[in-house]
Amino acid sequence: MNHFLDLWPISSGELRSILDNAKSRKAARKGLPKGTADKDAPLAGHTLAMIFEKNSTRTRVSFDMAIRQLGGTSLILTATDSQISRGESIEDTARVMSRYVDAVMMRANRHADVEAFAKFASVPVINGLTEKSHPCQIMADLQTLEEAGLVLKGSRIAWVGDGNNMANTFIHAAPKFGFSLSVATPAGYDADMKDVERARAEQGRIDLFRDPMQAVAGADVVVADTFVSMGDLDADKRLADLGGYKVSGELMRAANGGAKFLHCLPAHRGEEVDGDVIDGPQSLVFDEAENRLHAQKAILEWCLRG
Ligand code: CP
Ligand code: NVA
Repeated sequence: MNHFLDLWPISSGELRSILDNAKSRKAARKGLPKGTADKDAPLAGHTLAMIFEKNSTRTRVSFDMAIRQLGGTSLILTATDSQISRGESIEDTARVMSRYVDAVMMRANRHADVEAFAKFASVPVINGLTEKSHPCQIMADLQTLEEAGLVLKGSRIAWVGDGNNMANTFIHAAPKFGFSLSVATPAGYDADMKDVERARAEQGRIDLFRDPMQAVAGADVVVADTFVSMGDLDADKRLADLGGYKVSGELMRAANGGAKFLHCLPAHRGEEVDGDVIDGPQSLVFDEAENRLHAQKAILEWCLRG
């Protein structure tokens, strides 16, 4: 069963084939109206269910359009209007949903719930973001960088800000794709050290810093994310503690000339990034958002057709 819960269990070769498929499907349908299926409609007759325990704009719309372009359909469940919020177990929900649909995408408060769902489901399960990771986003990010001409192997990516789910997923991706990662976080906001150790054990180069200027030195890409993720209850403290980690024009100038800027969105201009950076010529954020669609089509195809 091909679940897409995290990058760790998926080989570099398979991840490479997913990225390549994303790019070739994107190229092959150029010019078609967005609601028209790809010519081969490889997932005709398939239904994807999406379960949302947290808000979403990109994940929800891009997965919906992704399955349609592959010839299938989708349906959406929010935790609040399903029996999940009334205490029905993840295990039973997974077993029941598997009788109706061909795949499930889940955005969950607890990563352990997505893992439990996958354990009890008899159809592929995709992690659409948890507090620990956001693997679909990283595939779109890497597709975007390659399309912008970056050769991932040997490149250097700098993460600046909170050591959150996105930071962790960049750490997972580093050994898989052969880029080195520098991570600048304040004390108390470190990325998951178990992930850092695992990435290093798998030959990934991960350098940890407190000073954002040191982290971006030599970087080909600078990445920011919100200081207050969904589920974080200490917004005021976070904004105060992370204030020195905003990606400004000055910080971008300390990276390599022509360095690219990524942000998975939603963004808060003036908090984690200045407007002139995210809306400036080095920013790829809207290509990155678009590529959620293309990357997820390849992920869905890999999950359902291998
Ligand atoms: N980047 C991302 O996952 O966006 P949404 O929260 O809007 O889905
Ligand atoms: N770190 C953010 C990412 C949103 C797509 C969050 O979890 O809210």
